[in-house]
Amino acid sequence: MDAGGAPLHSRFEGPKGTFDYLPPLADVRARVELTMLEQARLAGYQRMETPIFEETGLFARGVGQSTDVVQKEMYTFTDKGGRSVTLRPELTAGAVRALIEHGRLGGGLVKVAFSGPGFRYERPQAGRQRQFHQVDIEAIGSADPALDADVILVGHEVFRTLGIAVTLLLTSLGDAECRPVYRQRLLEFLRGLGDKLPSEVRARAEQNPLRVLDMKDPYVQELTADAPLMRDSLCKACREHDDTVRYLLGEAGVGWTEAPRLVRGLDYYMRTTFEWQAEALDAAQNALGGGGRYDGLSELVGGPPAPGVGWALGLDRTVLALERAGALPEAPPQLQALVLPLTPAAQGTAVKLVRDLRRAGVAADQPYADRTLRGHMKAAAKAGALAVVLLGEEELADGQASVRDMAARDQVRVPLDSVVPTVARIAATAGDLAPGGREGGASGRPGSAGPPGAGGAAVGIDPSDTDDQGAAP
Ligand code: HAM
Repeated sequence: MDAGGAPLHSRFEGPKGTFDYLPPLADVRARVELTMLEQARLAGYQRMETPIFEETGLFARGVGQSTDVVQKEMYTFTDKGGRSVTLRPELTAGAVRALIEHGRLGGGLVKVAFSGPGFRYERPQAGRQRQFHQVDIEAIGSADPALDADVILVGHEVFRTLGIAVTLLLTSLGDAECRPVYRQRLLEFLRGLGDKLPSEVRARAEQNPLRVLDMKDPYVQELTADAPLMRDSLCKACREHDDTVRYLLGEAGVGWTEAPRLVRGLDYYMRTTFEWQAEALDAAQNALGGGGRYDGLSELVGGPPAPGVGWALGLDRTVLALERAGALPEAPPQLQALVLPLTPAAQGTAVKLVRDLRRAGVAADQPYADRTLRGHMKAAAKAGALAVVLLGEEELADGQASVRDMAARDQVRVPLDSVVPTVARIAATAGDLAPGGREGGASGRPGSAGPPGAGGAAVGIDPSDTDDQGAAP
């Protein structure tokens, strides 16, 4: 047994509810993350990072004591110093805490963007994990409804760029003036249903009646079909705020669906509240991102008045939605040029060529494996190499290399200092063509334009060796 009680030599598995991103999916995920971060940058958000754990009280107070997140889903533990700390279940509370602590709130608008993991002890299923990754934007320091529209516009552009079909659900949750009045009305309605409501729903109603409205249970939905809605109880200021947000979204060409029962699981929201649902995913995990306005959160956690609005993209679910829709972005090329030292004496030249190719932006590598030439060529084709640089004895003696264009299936000998531009041209030409459009034939290809037999191919390769290899990635 080892210290953890597991029999020695037994294998370990990742913790339940976590997900290992292996290649090439991790690259795809990084691209999705970059898409959102780039849209955020274009909208003036600056990167920021906070720790993945915070004092437990921050979430209890900031996210809300009555939420499922705080009551059931937090990873809370006592550290060796006896402090209660919690792995962040979301990023907004930590963001506000950090901005307050460093004196960044209270003096105008701050726009910040985050990317990192969150942790919730949920029942794991596809798209619902215990460790998940969010890309989050927060715009704090203005109550202007135009900012709500601007924050939503970032999301609209993210999904448009990624090509994901989503529905934007939109509602207003009112403010400190109109929501308590509405809450009481709703509570009375729910109490009026008496025993018809299951006991756990009655308990939920007493704690947080709004959360009963977005319960998925069809029986509860039917019973509450006539429940009063926040939308019909907004005060004048909230109504005007909401109207302006909708007007601006309309002007920006952002469509939405009214969602008067959208509540969301975090207590800090007021006024504008929204969620994007993927059309390709099941209801249990189709929320790709969501957020809203949280005026009052700063004061709640000890900061100055600083009204804010933001949202977070669930990166894992977004990748899942792309996967289900068969629209994953292509992973970046891992290998464009393979450099093959065919004699031990060529190794020094090979390492320099690999270095120079990489400096020129070409993904280049050596095989680090013993194979026949034919085996190397097959492996290169399988790995999607566009060019193979062959360094045989004859080439070395002449200060040259043979560069093979894998798609065109032709080969030229060039001086060593022409290898990088020759390979770069082959890669650029391949990149210019649509996927699948890389035809054979060398006409017009700079990499194959040398005079026939220029220098002769010291390492002759029978084209049939590579015929059936599907050279193009
Ligand atoms: P949220 O709706 O709880 O909002 O989470 C945002 C997104 O994170 C969800 O739409 C979902 O895609 C993803 N997500 C949440 N929990 C999980 C999970 N267990 N597994 C996989 N993905 C998950 C917030 O967290 C707010 N802090 C957003 C915000 C920012 N509001 C204002 N500013």
